[in-house]
Amino acid sequence: MQVKLKVFRFNPQTNKQPHYEYFTVEAKPTERVLDCLNKIRWEQDGSLAYRMSCGHGICGSDGMTINNVSALACQKLVQNYEASKEIVVEPLSVFPIVKDLVVDLEPFFEREKSVHPSAGIVLTEAEGYGENLQTPDQRAQFDDDIKCIMCACCVSACPISQKEDPAYVGPAAIVRAHRYIFDSRIKNELERLAIMDKPHGARTCKGYFKCTQVCPKGIQITKHIFEVKRRILDELHPKQ
Ligand code: SF4
Ligand code: SF4
Ligand code: FES
Repeated sequence: MQVKLKVFRFNPQTNKQPHYEYFTVEAKPTERVLDCLNKIRWEQDGSLAYRMSCGHGICGSDGMTINNVSALACQKLVQNYEASKEIVVEPLSVFPIVKDLVVDLEPFFEREKSVHPSAGIVLTEAEGYGENLQTPDQRAQFDDDIKCIMCACCVSACPISQKEDPAYVGPAAIVRAHRYIFDSRIKNELERLAIMDKPHGARTCKGYFKCTQVCPKGIQITKHIFEVKRRILDELHPKQ
């Protein structure tokens, strides 16, 4: 089948304004949007910039906006889009554009680092044979969080990060904080909760669920954000 793509192009060093370019590639219905971009770059326009590495939803590097939805290009099959219409491919929103579909993720990584207290991870004392043991139920508390591949799709999709509060720490950073707050082996969770309680922290989330809808790893992001918010109230602002 022939797949038509409308692709965002912008080189801040040479272009005053972004523009769109149109490409048509031959692809099987089960090929991915990433395969189409590769065909464009390899066969039609070697200057098209985008990130990719694993091609299998593991590395998190090819997050982009496809038909207005944040997604990994390696996880979206062309057969899932209307054949008669162009597939519109744009960079992730929220982040500065480096070139075409490549965005600067440094602000994303900075937010992720900001959830850690200065003391880092302080472990509870191990008992018995020196191993810091955990029951399966305790381990399950943060199983979902560790699926995160840092693709930034959730932040790009969040209306608060997009418009309402650009300083919002964002869903991925709260998932990271949740991972440590709910780990029974870590004892300085109050410090991490205090960081999450700051302005632009977890309590900024209004529960739009957009992050959860787009997460390519199926992480229950909004649920975990609400668990952090609940824990902030219980631990830092208990009712008298
Ligand atoms: S649930 Fe919270 S973090 Fe997720 S998109 Fe909505 S406002 Fe943003
Ligand atoms: S929580 Fe999901 S969408 Fe957000 S960065 Fe992690 S894997 Fe990507
Ligand atoms: S290329 Fe690695 S997640 Fe898509």
